[in-house]
Amino acid sequence: MTVVLPADAAGIARAAALLRDGRLLAFGTETVYGLGADATNGEAVAGIFAAKGRPRFNPLIGHYPDADAAFAHVAANPLAQRLAAALWPGPLTLVLPRRADCPVALLTGAGLDTLGVRVPAQATALALLRAVGRPVAAPSANRSGRVSPTTAADVLAELDGRIDAVLDSGACPVGVESTVLDLTGPHPTLLRPGGATLEAVEALIGPVAQGGAPGGAVRSPGMLASHYAPALPVRLHAGDAQPGEALLAFGPPPPCAPLAFNLSAGGDLTEAAARLFTGLRWLDAEAVRRGLTRIAVMEVPETGLGRAINDRLRRAAAPLHR
Ligand code: TXA
Ligand code: MG
Repeated sequence: MTVVLPADAAGIARAAALLRDGRLLAFGTETVYGLGADATNGEAVAGIFAAKGRPRFNPLIGHYPDADAAFAHVAANPLAQRLAAALWPGPLTLVLPRRADCPVALLTGAGLDTLGVRVPAQATALALLRAVGRPVAAPSANRSGRVSPTTAADVLAELDGRIDAVLDSGACPVGVESTVLDLTGPHPTLLRPGGATLEAVEALIGPVAQGGAPGGAVRSPGMLASHYAPALPVRLHAGDAQPGEALLAFGPPPPCAPLAFNLSAGGDLTEAAARLFTGLRWLDAEAVRRGLTRIAVMEVPETGLGRAINDRLRRAAAPLHR
């Protein structure tokens, strides 16, 4: 059985004790719920992959209570320092070289000599990380290939009985995962668009290369095309819903969809990001229940948080593993 812990002092203390004991605990961050384990405990980290049913070991993010704690384990360059000072705590993950004495289990970083680190902007998560006193490895708390959970109930729908507990800190305000930025090469490279906008990052450090490794190799497995698959196929750039389709709307909805979820009737990208995974999850389940066969998605502008939203929607639409 998976225990639901309240986000009060006792719940946080209990959650921290579980993590220190090598157990699996899902916890809320400002982006999505993470499935956490003590990042220095290889066996505990292996449990994450088992619980998620991940087909292979993807590098996981190490979560820290502050930049000093993170930069004790990875080597920060001046760009990392500048980004951390301005955007941490916040939805930005920095990929940096591990320090020689880094105690984080190699499995956390999938054996790479780099490690993704971040400081989440969520009071409960920060209190938890301080109480644990060790970095916490945490991918999104979904089964492999499925949409990231943004509430404790979503986590239970994915992982009930497969993890020890979930620390319920309510709905995640940002709603899409962190931006992942690789700072180990000659040029900063965006590995995954996310909650920190490219505009905000570039305002601090100048131009950022996009699209991962040259030659199309997958540097960040989160960039696998089919990572965010709902049960039903997805049609993008929809102007309206055709027969048999449920509609994921953005902005003023067209008049005649039998089943719709509006990410933001007012066309607000922040609201849309926060509602994206909840909406997809709800719409997918409800559409299946009603015998609909496809999800149509209206256009979302490719700017600010819209970049991260469209990235997730394109993956949701990718037919790869059907
Ligand atoms: O918002 C988030 O980032 C959430 C919350 C829980 O913090 N976590 C999350 O983790 O989305 P996950 O495992 O679902 O996605 C982490 C992404 C993956 O695309 C992974 O490949 C990339 O970060 N990543 C992590 N460490 C990396 C590394 N050393 N090199 C390249 N990519 C890395
Ligand atoms: Mg994920």
